[in-house]
This record gives sequence, C-alpha cells and structure tokens, in this order.
Amino acid sequence: MTRSIRPLVAGNWKMNGLKADLAIAADIAKGYDAELKAAVDLALCPPASLLASASDALRGSHIASGGQDCSTQDLGAFTGEISAAMLADAGASFAIVGHSERRTLHGETDAAVKAKAQAALKAALVPIVCVGETKDEREAGRAVAVVTGQLHGSLPEAATAATLVVAYEPVWAIGTGLTPTAADVAEMHAAIRAELGLLLGDEEAAGVRLLYGGSVKPSNAAELMNVTHVDGALVGGASLKAEDFLAIARACA
Ligand code: PGA
Repeated sequence: MTRSIRPLVAGNWKMNGLKADLAIAADIAKGYDAELKAAVDLALCPPASLLASASDALRGSHIASGGQDCSTQDLGAFTGEISAAMLADAGASFAIVGHSERRTLHGETDAAVKAKAQAALKAALVPIVCVGETKDEREAGRAVAVVTGQLHGSLPEAATAATLVVAYEPVWAIGTGLTPTAADVAEMHAAIRAELGLLLGDEEAAGVRLLYGGSVKPSNAAELMNVTHVDGALVGGASLKAEDFLAIARACA
C-alpha cells in the first residue's frame, strides 16, 4: 500500500447477476462498517442491466458503482453500445475500460481504450484503465515492456490523480486461481508508477490509485495488498460473494 493513498477495492461482476443478486450488493453495504469506511473506498461494477438498481441499492452506503465498459461515442446510431453519460445517468462514478476480456474478445486496441477513457472523463466518470500481460509475454521476459506500452497507448489525456485509476491485471491470473509473486507485483507496480510519472508528471503520478487484479481472494489479499504501490484491488469472482469481498476490503484497511 501507499500510505498517502486511500485504497479502493472495486468489484467487477462481469456478465453475472440478475435482479435477485442485488441482495449481494445490499449485504456488502451492510458489512461496510465505520471501521472499513474510515480506511478503504469500495465500488461495485455490476452488468449494465443492473447498474441503475444497484446504484439505488447502494445509495447512502458510500459505496460507489461503475460500468464495465463504455462507448467511445457520445450518442447516436451505435446499437448495443452504452455511453459514459448513460452510465453516469444510471448512478455510476467509475467505468472500467480496457479489461483484458474486452481487449481479447472484442479486439479493443490501446487507441480504443484511450478513447473510452477520455469519454469516461468527459462524463465526469473516473476510468479504471486495465493493463496486463499474457502468459507468453511474461515467459518471454516482456511483461514490463508490454504493460508500460499499453499504459502509454491507453491513458486518457489530462488525467490527474483524482480522475484516474489504473488496474494491473495479468491476463493469465484472471479467473485462474494463479497470481504473480509479491516480488513480480512490486516490480510491475513500481514500473507503472514510474511510467505514469513520465505521462502525468511525478506529482500526479504519486497519487494515482494502482489496483492489482487477477484471482484476488480473502486468502491472498493481505499479501498482495501489502506490496508497495498496490493501492487496492479489482476483484472478479470474489466480488460475487459479500463475505469474500468484505474480507478483501478488510485486508486493505
Ligand atoms: P478474477 O477477475 O478476480 O475473477 O480473477 C478479475 C478481473 O477480471 O477483474
């Protein structure tokens, strides 16, 4: 953790959750007690179909909500797309952009991710920009080069510490139960902080929240969250269980 940075734990529900699952959000809100509130920010990113009702369910809890993606466009003939302004209108304050599942399954390039991050900023959402290397790239010793390259191409212009979150998510760690070693996470997060310094200036870079994501669970959260320059977590599977998500939050507190 970085002492001067208030950590953020964000849950990414991916394509999971029906109306009945809003009970999970309500349970998380119930468990977000004064001690946790004093120490860590929480956000939930449900599927778009639940965003407005989840935002309502979380109202008054101080837990934010977010979208999992947004369009590069403001409005118009883009069937199936959801604009950043629509996410904001549904109560969101964050938008995940550039998740590896979007990059891989939907062919999103760094340039597209950057345009999405800029669209999010324009709608006063904080983009959570995701970056991460594949297994092959790590084994070839290229992980840091790949991730700093993605950052270079994906970050929005004119971002500040208050309007940007970066999530390092090694592709091979997502949903697999595998995690990098603490030393590998430390090396990567230090490299990300340094690259942000080049892009935003050192002062802003020092305050940007850098999340780790990929198989974060109650059993490994404390070790991962203890790593220098890790300022929280982006949590997939474990965010669908209130107890697990809260345990991860407590590991940050
Ligand atoms: P996971 O997913 O926690 O299920 O590995 C993380 C993510 O994809 O954001």
